[in-house]
Amino acid sequence: MAFPYRKILILGATSGIGRALAASLIQDGRFVIAVGRRKEHLDSFVQEQGTDKAVSFQFDISRLDEIQSFVKSPSEIDRLHTHEVSVDVASVTSSHPDLDCVFVNSGIQRRSVFSEPETISMSDIQEEMTTRVSTSSNLALVPILRCSNYCASKAALHQWILCLREQLKGTNTKVIEIFPPIVQTELHDAKHQPDMGQAGKSFGIPVEQFTEETMERLQAGDEQIPVGLSKIAFESWEQQRQGAFHRIVELMKSSEF
Ligand SMILES: NC(=O)c1ccc[n+]([C@@H]2O[C@H](COP(=O)([O-])OP(=O)(O)OC[C@H]3O[C@@H](n4cnc5c(N)ncnc54)[C@H](OP(=O)(O)O)[C@@H]3O)[C@@H](O)[C@H]2O)c1
Repeated sequence: MAFPYRKILILGATSGIGRALAASLIQDGRFVIAVGRRKEHLDSFVQEQGTDKAVSFQFDISRLDEIQSFVKSPSEIDRLHTHEVSVDVASVTSSHPDLDCVFVNSGIQRRSVFSEPETISMSDIQEEMTTRVSTSSNLALVPILRCSNYCASKAALHQWILCLREQLKGTNTKVIEIFPPIVQTELHDAKHQPDMGQAGKSFGIPVEQFTEETMERLQAGDEQIPVGLSKIAFESWEQQRQGAFHRIVELMKSSEF
């Protein structure tokens, strides 16, 4: 099976793309661990889907110092770092050791600190999951002036994903990147972008259309999934960039760098 994962953790499953993909994955027979900050949305998702198909974890991914204990319980961290600990709380991996896929979709994409590359442990990443799916953006390829910092962070994420996929080649970890076009989600609501007012709600393609196309490509086993308008940049100059990237990787390998 091209997308064989059975238990999928989705960061940012309380609305928009994450919630819609979570529901589609459950429809497709997968179990979903939904993560986000809004407890009432997490509870309503699990109630809608049933406790045999979904569970939730309330977690704020911007709390960087709590990520480690969210992923591994203190005793597991202790075994890794040989420090003494007295409390043990259920982490997502101790409650779900069969977790085999993670969607990093929350909009706050940083699992690792880009400015401290020495802190990124490839073996930890491999050990923790078999597959990582990230929601990037068409804006990773073509920036717009309205949100230049957002575009820059998506471009950084995209470059990092290209390298991560290459570094994990030959392991059991697959790295998938989804490039949404503009999709109708809360992202364009007045609460996030007040100047868009009510017009934000109808900005982009319906989330159902996005989800249908994305699910087809996931099931086909694709590692890079440009949807809708994102295909224009992806299928043209992005191919040249990735061609150059792979040539440099090979060149540096042959020079033993
Ligand atoms: N919609 C588009 O046009 C578009 C286009 C390209 C890329 N994208 C990307 O698609 C992804 C999903 O966005 P969306 O459009 O579906 O927007 P959305 O409806 O606003 O959903 C964002 C999700 O992220 C969660 N989230 C935000 N901050 C979080 C935090 N600190 N900790 C945990 N969860 C957090 C939110 O949950 P809580 O608020 O409950 O925490 C929510 O579930 C984002 O990465 C976005 O950049 C969207």
